Amino acid sequence: MKTTASVRKAAPEDIESIYRIISSYSEEGVLLSRSIEDINVNLNNFLVAEVGRAIVGVVTFYDYGDRLKEVRSLAVDKNQLRRGIGSALLNALISELNRANAPRIFVLTYAAGFFKKNGFSIIDMDTLPEKIWKDCANCPRQDSCNEVALEYTGT
Ligand SMILES: CC(C)(COP(=O)(O)OP(=O)(O)OC[C@H]1O[C@@H](n2cnc3c(N)ncnc32)[C@H](O)[C@@H]1OP(=O)(O)O)[C@@H](O)C(=O)NCCC(=O)NCCS
Repeated sequence: MKTTASVRKAAPEDIESIYRIISSYSEEGVLLSRSIEDINVNLNNFLVAEVGRAIVGVVTFYDYGDRLKEVRSLAVDKNQLRRGIGSALLNALISELNRANAPRIFVLTYAAGFFKKNGFSIIDMDTLPEKIWKDCANCPRQDSCNEVALEYTGT
């Protein structure tokens, strides 16, 4: 069943909810962890989804400059999955980024199916600038990594 969630820019009072939702996935190794301080410093780049007065999802991005942006920390409350909230957040973020300067938008993720449904296509990691994948060389999972790179190509 779809839920009507409203998506808006995050405000300081959302920080704890954002932290809680991201942590529920970073503890499983699905997302990178984010500290309260890190969220606070970058709050301007976060969007949240709200149902009633409850924060049920979050998304942000990293700006590499050169019109290259990475979708980061997209997470939906585990009790609210498969109701369209992740798609609503992602679409709102893409609209916002496209309003700015039509950048190249990519993601590194284990949830490739979700991103494909939302207009992303799988790309070769090598097509991304070296600064993005150079850290892979130091990662213990480099030989068994299931993360996939996808780029927004439109629906
Ligand atoms: C990925 C995630 C954000 C999806 O949120 P959601 O609100 O459940 O997504 P939606 O309801 O908008 O899903 C839209 C469609 O994507 C597909 N989809 C959703 N989650 C999926 C998943 N984990 N794997 C594959 N396909 C998925 C489904 O086909 C779904 O449509 P359907 O329910 O009609 O079949 C959520 O599962 C999540 O928080 N995952 C953990 C964190 C993560 O992996 N984030 C992405 C990396 S930044």
